Amino acid sequence: PQRPPSAPAVDQTNRDSAFLTAMRRERAPHTPVWFMRQAGRYMPEYRALRAGRSMLDCIRTPDLAAEITMQPIKAFNVDAAILFNDILTPLPTMGLDLDFVGGVGPQIANRIETPADVDRLGVPATAETMPYTMESIRLVRQQLDPRGIPLIGFIGAPFTLASYAIEGKGSKTYDRTKRFMYAEPAAWARLMGKFEAILGDYLEQQVRAGAQAVQVFDSWVGMLSVHDYRTFVKPATDRLIQRVKGLGVPVIYFGTGTQHLLPDMASLGTDVVGADWRLPLDEAWKLLQPGQGIQGNLDPLLLQAPWRELKHQVDRILAEAGGRPGHIFNVGHGLLPETPMDNVARVIDYVHERTAKGG
Ligand code: CP3
Repeated sequence: PQRPPSAPAVDQTNRDSAFLTAMRRERAPHTPVWFMRQAGRYMPEYRALRAGRSMLDCIRTPDLAAEITMQPIKAFNVDAAILFNDILTPLPTMGLDLDFVGGVGPQIANRIETPADVDRLGVPATAETMPYTMESIRLVRQQLDPRGIPLIGFIGAPFTLASYAIEGKGSKTYDRTKRFMYAEPAAWARLMGKFEAILGDYLEQQVRAGAQAVQVFDSWVGMLSVHDYRTFVKPATDRLIQRVKGLGVPVIYFGTGTQHLLPDMASLGTDVVGADWRLPLDEAWKLLQPGQGIQGNLDPLLLQAPWRELKHQVDRILAEAGGRPGHIFNVGHGLLPETPMDNVARVIDYVHERTAKGG
């Protein structure tokens, strides 16, 4: 396959790991498992490290970000690491005052309200504004490579980042975002274009620094109708994904509540598409492109269920996957703070055991 001249050289380290093999939709030694938000508050070692430090301080201090990234790698037999960071990290570099408020979530003091606010947003070079991310990736790779575990880099997608920029916080209904999108289509398109540019650059820098696979988080895109996705979101997201596909590493495109959008999301042609728990895995997989892999789709709440129910539903998901190459076992959305670590460990080991080839 042809890569643009700017594409980083392809890194072959740990290419035969279960995770990278499954990302190529080849038969892996076992179904790989990792969990979105696998580093986080459900781990006492995370809470200890975060005590007295802000989220953004941890993200911006490579030693700390690397240590947090490694916490679930040391605690569990996961098949991939995901860099400790956040999809919202680029927002302050563009001029939006982001804070993670304990118990509330992300807050933006100067949210976007008008077209002029869009035009004030900067699109700075991410190697200069977020060098700590790339330094964290280099540090993590030094620790992961000898363990045989690949590292996932990530970005948010334009819609999901725009939703935070416009709402100023999380939302259940995205009213402000939709109002802006409908009332100011030209400014909306410029906003999508700014995110497309900065996110493409950011992910390219992450791959150059050593990210071996990437995930694009479009967590809230399922709030849109198919029509609105195609009209207001798909064009910039498509251009971004095509750029990302040129980086030479496999790509996952993820969203929640996307049953109706899966064919459109799949048509962007990423290696793997992420699905939440709402549709059975086999039904979701049928909505993807031929040869595309799927990531998912355990309801994270099930990790708080008794083992008999949890095991039953893991078995169900594995049966739906049917041993087909290209399944990456994950939760359908991030791990919750109430998650018992024992259940995380148990699910990972159980999936490995149940899917081991030649054993
Ligand atoms: O998955 C990982 O372990 C890597 C790290 C990671 C975080 N956030 C750390 C984090 C990743 C990949 C994200 C992505 C992210 N951030 C998304 C997309 C995935 C998803 O969950 O839909 C979104 C929408 C965000 C925005 C965000 N960041 C929210 C809504 C919150 C508050 C909710 C919460 O759980 O507190 C955050 C904060 C955040 N990001 C935390 C972590 C570990 C919790 C902060 C804390 O420890 O107090």
